[in-house]
Amino acid sequence: MSEHALRVYESILGLLSSEDNPTPLVRLTKTVPFKHTRAYAKLEWYNPFGAVKDRIAANLLADAEKRGLIAPGAKKLVEPTSGNTGLGLTMMGNARGYSVRTPLSNKIPLEKRAVLRFFGADVMELNDELCPAPGAPEGAIAVARQTARMPDFHMLDQYRNEANPESHYKTTGPEIWRQTGGKVTHFAAGLGTCGTVTGTGRYLKEKNRAVKVIGVHPGEGHDIPGVRSLVQLKQTELFRPNEYDGVVEVANDEAYALCLRLVREECIIAGPSSAMALSGALKAVPDEPGNLLVVIFPDNIFKYASSVMRHFPDLFPAAAAPPPAGSELNARLYDEMVKHAKTSRDAVAIDEARAMIDGQGALVIDVRSNERYDAAHVPGAVNIPLSTLGESAARLPGDKDRAILCVCDRGNISANGMLYLKALGYSRVKSLSGGTQAWIREGLPTEP
Ligand SMILES: Cc1ncc(COP(=O)(O)O)c(C=O)c1O
Repeated sequence: MSEHALRVYESILGLLSSEDNPTPLVRLTKTVPFKHTRAYAKLEWYNPFGAVKDRIAANLLADAEKRGLIAPGAKKLVEPTSGNTGLGLTMMGNARGYSVRTPLSNKIPLEKRAVLRFFGADVMELNDELCPAPGAPEGAIAVARQTARMPDFHMLDQYRNEANPESHYKTTGPEIWRQTGGKVTHFAAGLGTCGTVTGTGRYLKEKNRAVKVIGVHPGEGHDIPGVRSLVQLKQTELFRPNEYDGVVEVANDEAYALCLRLVREECIIAGPSSAMALSGALKAVPDEPGNLLVVIFPDNIFKYASSVMRHFPDLFPAAAAPPPAGSELNARLYDEMVKHAKTSRDAVAIDEARAMIDGQGALVIDVRSNERYDAAHVPGAVNIPLSTLGESAARLPGDKDRAILCVCDRGNISANGMLYLKALGYSRVKSLSGGTQAWIREGLPTEP
């Protein structure tokens, strides 16, 4: 029983937004240059888990259950995410009895990755772009699809699943129509998977063909989490520009500058992609009597402290002080060393690795977490997670010329392990390119 008027709910799921329990529309007055056009922001952080993606998490799950594709406890979910879908899905999974694995980019704000782990997601951090890059073999999307081939996993696939836009057709659209009394003339949203703009747009145009639908995207190389540049939009099958009336590009700095104004002048705690969507709408919507614009604000600023520090260094005097030259330089050099190590002759393919094991009696060190190691590892490998390598001298060979093969999932972490062991003086250390995944793809046996 949900008492929306009294806001009393028997379960948190009762707070999922719908026509009877819409997320708020708030009028914008200080940051919009309009004399006639009325502009409203739709605050999606009023969803139970803090973002617009709670809508699709609920609908993707319900749809897959209805189709008999998943059932609580019978399947694990795997979904590549830029953060918010993972957060919504993990909480829905907690409520409905599903574990959720989230392959994602290690460039996603730490706040989101930390909270995902706190929510209980099985987070896999990958060397990928902010938004999973098109065709990146080791990217979040590819890894999720690979994992979904395993019998006990299912991928709801927000980038292809029509249940994504359908969730907005069934909720966001009807909410806006009712909240504006059917007077909405323009609708704008940022483009991520494009589920929001496509689903909501379809509903509003069915109600009134004259409603203008505007999709807003960032430029290439942006750092606005959750949305995609034109190149990155290739990765989603829900980008339907022929269904929109305009697609507008907004520069990174424009979005962050307007984000600051929204907080300071409108007193709305909007996140960067909200400001981007508004900035794009202001470029596309004319100032005319009778115009009513609604812009989706997907989430709030609290998950983007690290982005704020990067874009507004002056707000942090201490942080503004140039970091001791060492640390930043070291970090950059280290990243480069690992990058080169992964393509160097110390990164070996399966055949050479097998020759090391069979021919040279190499010690195989698996540097992944215990869980990953327990799941499947190269026969005979010992498990020393990378983070514990430093304090595991007792488990390392006394003979510094002993052949050692470092292994991880795909060859990233093992390159770090290899470099570390070389620094400890081991002369014959190699890293397995492609890692355990390549080993399995070769049809080679694993333990346990
Ligand atoms: C912060 C943020 N903004 C915008 C979007 C874009 O929404 P959609 O995927 O429906 O296009 C997302 C999607 O993940 C998001 O997390």
